[in-house]
Amino acid sequence: MQKATAYHDGLGDFFAERADTSPHNAYTDRPAMLRLAGDVSGARILDVGCGAGHYASELSARGAQVVGIEGSATLLRHARVRLNGHAELVLHDLEEPLAFAADASFDGAVCALVFHHIRNREQLLSELCRVLRPGGWLLMSTSHPTADWDHFGGSYFSHEWSDLVLAGGEHSIHYQRMPLETFLGELLAAGFVLEQLVEPRPTAALREFDEAAYDKLRQAPSFLAVRLRRP
Ligand SMILES: C[S@@+](CC[C@H](N)C(=O)[O-])C[C@H]1O[C@@H](n2cnc3c(N)ncnc32)[C@H](O)[C@@H]1O
Repeated sequence: MQKATAYHDGLGDFFAERADTSPHNAYTDRPAMLRLAGDVSGARILDVGCGAGHYASELSARGAQVVGIEGSATLLRHARVRLNGHAELVLHDLEEPLAFAADASFDGAVCALVFHHIRNREQLLSELCRVLRPGGWLLMSTSHPTADWDHFGGSYFSHEWSDLVLAGGEHSIHYQRMPLETFLGELLAAGFVLEQLVEPRPTAALREFDEAAYDKLRQAPSFLAVRLRRP
């Protein structure tokens, strides 16, 4: 049996809490991706793998109309509490087509730290192209390939499915490491046009909260984030 990639039960609860304040999510990935999003007021946005709704909540506070989709019922429960009706939330396995969404029905899509969990990425990207309007944008972040290389070792070019044990050792997440050329190559092959690529550094606020994490994340990249356009 294939390992689950969506974060169920205890792992879902753990991630929901961690995403609130973790140096990686709250101070590094999210601020960088939200900067890439720019002005979203009035935009209809699909939050792909919305987790506990942290992005959906920020985007809806900035005036966007958000639909969040997520494969873990545990995380959707957290998202419902966080969003309190301010976004539409759908339980959906991202290995399946986005059958609930009409063609060209979104102005933008956010897919934060989800892509490397998905096996059928070609289908997901083709579906994102379909549901985005022409000229619509896609923001995607993923684990930085050099961070995975540093952590798991072996070849930089490895495409191995790996288990990252999270702090405390009680939980792990299952995802596919991949080199930069695979990540970008798949996005470009799907027809997206690259507009911007950043290697997010933590915001200055992290220095007050956790100086050691701030120093570490300033020096070694943990994520890649890109803004793409659907022609
Ligand atoms: C690192 S979390 C990121 C969550 C959210 N985007 C954020 O940044 O806070 C990865 C998310 O992808 C979801 N996920 C992984 N595989 C999935 C699948 N096959 N279908 C739906 N969701 C999936 C997990 O349940 C989890 O919510």
